Order: sequence, then structure tokens, then C-alpha cells
Amino acid sequence: KRAQESSDYEQMERASKFFAHQLRHHTNSSRVIEYLKGRGLSGDIVKQFQIGYAPDGWDGLLSALGSDQRSKQQLVDLKLVNQNDQGRLYDFFRDRVMFPIRDRRGRVVGFGGRILEGDGPKYLNSPETRIFHKGRELYGFYEARQANRELEQVVIVEGYMDVVALAQAGISFAVASLGTATTTEQLQMLFRATRKVVCCYDGDRAGRDAAWRALENALPLLNDGIELSFLFLPDGEDPDTLVRKEGADEFARRLQQAQSFTDYFFAHLTETIDVQSDAGKSLLLKQAKPLIERIASDFYRETLMERLARLLRRETSQLEAQIKAPERAKP
Ligand code: UTP
Ligand code: MN
Ligand code: MN
Ligand code: MN
Ligand code: MN
Repeated sequence: KRAQESSDYEQMERASKFFAHQLRHHTNSSRVIEYLKGRGLSGDIVKQFQIGYAPDGWDGLLSALGSDQRSKQQLVDLKLVNQNDQGRLYDFFRDRVMFPIRDRRGRVVGFGGRILEGDGPKYLNSPETRIFHKGRELYGFYEARQANRELEQVVIVEGYMDVVALAQAGISFAVASLGTATTTEQLQMLFRATRKVVCCYDGDRAGRDAAWRALENALPLLNDGIELSFLFLPDGEDPDTLVRKEGADEFARRLQQAQSFTDYFFAHLTETIDVQSDAGKSLLLKQAKPLIERIASDFYRETLMERLARLLRRETSQLEAQIKAPERAKP
């Protein structure tokens, strides 16, 4: 099993090198490079993230890396190659800009592939495999650690291009959760490397929903000394478009002014609740209580209870009887 795993990582690295090589040498090369330039990326940053190109044929990768039956099967297992109903093998990623996803130790575990133009899904991601578990990986985390001796803070964004565009602008500490909501596991990985995390999702409905889900998933991790905040972008913007429009200094200024976990918590809950009325107050208590009870740190839990008490016009002591600390994990 160990031997198979290490050969899987080697095969993924070879695939990544193949895509990177195609970006420079394929007949479509200039078209792809123009596309990346058009998105503001320099050759250096393309190299740093080992961005590549999956050719538009059906068997570019397959013929390059599938020399025998065993390696062909491995490419299928790693979901780089598909098999059709007739048993014919073909490349999974075709005519796409390729973003290798590295794990914490720098090993390529999957890919994201962006369409250049035309129809089809904008991004294709590697499905889960025996070495790729989406909820556990963060795109750009390895690169961010390479670029910074000490990670003072990390910004979580939605997309590959957001990570790369921020790095291009000099903000080299962004990571992306892979298509899904940011998981507790991903947040835990970050809080082992830094004390300060800013969630910065797209300025749209999906982005705002992702922010609240990240907050919920972060509750059990809110320990003393940890700082979680939320940066909401103007409608229609994402970190990529905004940093290119406004520049890195302005983006850094926005990061500094991100909304604290506590402010966002109550701003979101009271968005649709009238806290002046008794009905509203009881609803707020009902919604806030189970969330506050999941917070790890006594300090954070008490801070939220005090704020809640003020909103409900109660004494904090009246709430303490109702809101309990989470059960401690058995030692
Ligand atoms: P977005 O939908 O915000 O990408 O998805 P975008 O900003 O429009 O893309 P660009 O800037 O034009 O390239 C953000 C992330 O969600 C996942 C990808 O990880 C993407 O980076 N996604 C999006 C998919 O997995 N599939 C999709 O079809 C779209
Ligand atoms: Mn989109
Ligand atoms: Mn979006
Ligand atoms: Mn986006
Ligand atoms: Mn974008």
C-alpha cells in the first residue's frame, strides 16, 4: 500500500509536469499563454504554481504516461483517464488550463482545470481518489507556506484564480477550499499554521452562504488567541477581479477592516429578525443558543453571551443557566 501510494504521487507529479510542458510546447501554446496573460499572470507566477495546459486531443496524457497496462490502470484510478462504455480510455482533462492541487507536504493529489472558452462547465475538478480527499485539502496552502517563513494570516477564497491573482499582486497567503464549503478539517489545518484567518468569498449569494457555513464549521475550533474574520466584497466582485481593479494596498486595507467573527455572527442572525419585539428576541435566542454552545473557548462563548444578553435586554447570568459549554473530549 505504501509503495502504491508513493507511485501514485509520482504519477501525479509526472502528470503535472506533462501539463506544464504542454503549456510551453503544445501547438495551442500561444493561445493558452495569451489567455493567462489576459488574466494578468506573469511567467513567474505560472511557474510557481506549476500551472499547465491539458491538450485538446483525447489521449495526450494517456500516451505520455500510460506506457503499459499497469500505468494505464493507475491513470484510471487517479481519475486522470476515463473509460467509456466500449472500454476505450481517454483523457479526463482536455483543452483546459490546469491547476495542480498539492497537499500540505507538496505532493500533487489532484487538479482543477479551467475551460479556455466555449461551452462546458467552467471548472472541472479531479474526483476523489485514494489519495485525494477534497474536504482535507486547500489549494495554495503548500505554496503559501513556501512563500512565507511565518504565516501571520491566511485568507480563504473560493477559486484557483483568486489564489493565483492575489499571489501575483504580492498577497501570497491565500488558499482556496475546493468548490465546496470550507470544512472544519480545512480550518483546523489552517489554525495549526496561523492564528489569524480571514474568509473572503465572492460578492454574491453563493459567497455569502459560504461565509456563514464557514462560520458554523469554525465554531468548535474557536480557541483563545484565534482570530477569525470575514471580508465581504462588493456585489459581483471576487478577490481576483477586485485586486486587479484596486491593487494590493487597497485589498490589504480591506483585509484589515474585515468584520470580526462576533460582529458577523450577530449581524447575520439579526438580518431577518426584529430584536425589538418579544417574538424576535425569543427567535434570536433560539437560533443563537445552539451555535454558541459549540464554541470551544470559554472566553469567546462568554463574549457572545454578553452580546446576546444586551440584544435581549437580559442579564448575562440569566442566559448562563441556559447556554452550556460544549462537552469536553474525554482525555
Ligand atoms: P466561480 O464561479 O466563482 O469562478 O467559482 P469564477 O470566479 O467565475 O472563475 P474565473 O475567475 O472566471 O476563472 C469559484 C471556484 O468554484 C469552483 C472552482 O474551484 C472555482 O475556482 N467551481 C466553479 C467548480 O468547481 N466548478 C464550476 O463549474 C465553477
Ligand atoms: Mn462564476
Ligand atoms: Mn462566485
Ligand atoms: Mn469567483
Ligand atoms: Mn473569478
